[in-house]
Amino acid sequence: MIASAFAVAYTGAIPVFVDADKETWNIDVTKIEEKITARTKAIMPVHIFGLMCDMDAITAIAKKYKLFILEDAAEAHGAEFKARKAGSFSDMAAFSFFANKNITTGEGGMVVTNDEAIYNKARYHKNLCFPLDGNRNYTHDEIGFNYRMSNVIAAIGLAQVEKSDIYKGLRIKNNSLYREYLKDVPGIIFQPLHVDYLNVCWMNAIVIDPVKYGHTKDELMLFLKEHGIDTRLLFNGMHNQKSLKEFGCSMAGDYSVSDWLTQNGLYLPSASNLSEEQITGICKLIATL
Ligand SMILES: Cc1ncc(COP(=O)(O)O)c(C=O)c1O
Repeated sequence: MIASAFAVAYTGAIPVFVDADKETWNIDVTKIEEKITARTKAIMPVHIFGLMCDMDAITAIAKKYKLFILEDAAEAHGAEFKARKAGSFSDMAAFSFFANKNITTGEGGMVVTNDEAIYNKARYHKNLCFPLDGNRNYTHDEIGFNYRMSNVIAAIGLAQVEKSDIYKGLRIKNNSLYREYLKDVPGIIFQPLHVDYLNVCWMNAIVIDPVKYGHTKDELMLFLKEHGIDTRLLFNGMHNQKSLKEFGCSMAGDYSVSDWLTQNGLYLPSASNLSEEQITGICKLIATL
């Protein structure tokens, strides 16, 4: 997702890409070390569609090379790896509250950390580097940002947090219905279910095997559209982004899994309030194409 790479670029650092894993669709942890150089400062695991990355492997690599871990948990509110929540494995983690997320404030988000120095740095920089002691002499020692959240929006966010387990439960239930009603349709691939991972199923993403399914993802999307069902493309890989190429990122390397996901993947409707009838209707259409 482009925001992850942009966040690195905003700091002046150059994002370096790692291909996805074909099973989990998350970062391929076996390909991280070959990308680490003396200039590497941090690893950013992006927990995709609600499924966390393999944080054991990433933590071990970060320790070995003395790197920060910055989790992009934008899509993973309440997700777990080995019974530990997304956002708790890193020096700092970011969550999105954009309108399409499991919990939302319309726009905005949240940063979490266990480190008091980072916490204060974040508070300082998000408020145009006004001094944290409250001094208003309009003298700013560093370049800051206005990334403040208004108190009205924060109040909505707190109320959303109270309901987060409800929304999480609805997304997980809807995803399990899709899996159940599509289990006999050949060539429909979901992210894996694994006992170590609680996937909060932000999106009902599927990948089509066109040979087994008999149709491409574009044909399926068109067919669903003709029947009034909207779908979306999966993300396009960072190695395909003109903006990042011009910024100076290396586009060389093998990103075949990422390209496979982009070429064959789509999101099925994913709103929390989908009814079982709506989901069975969509699945019947997918089965009849
Ligand atoms: C993985 C990932 N990272 C970052 C973001 C950016 O979040 P926001 O839209 O709240 O800036 C998103 C949002 O959609 C995302 O999916």
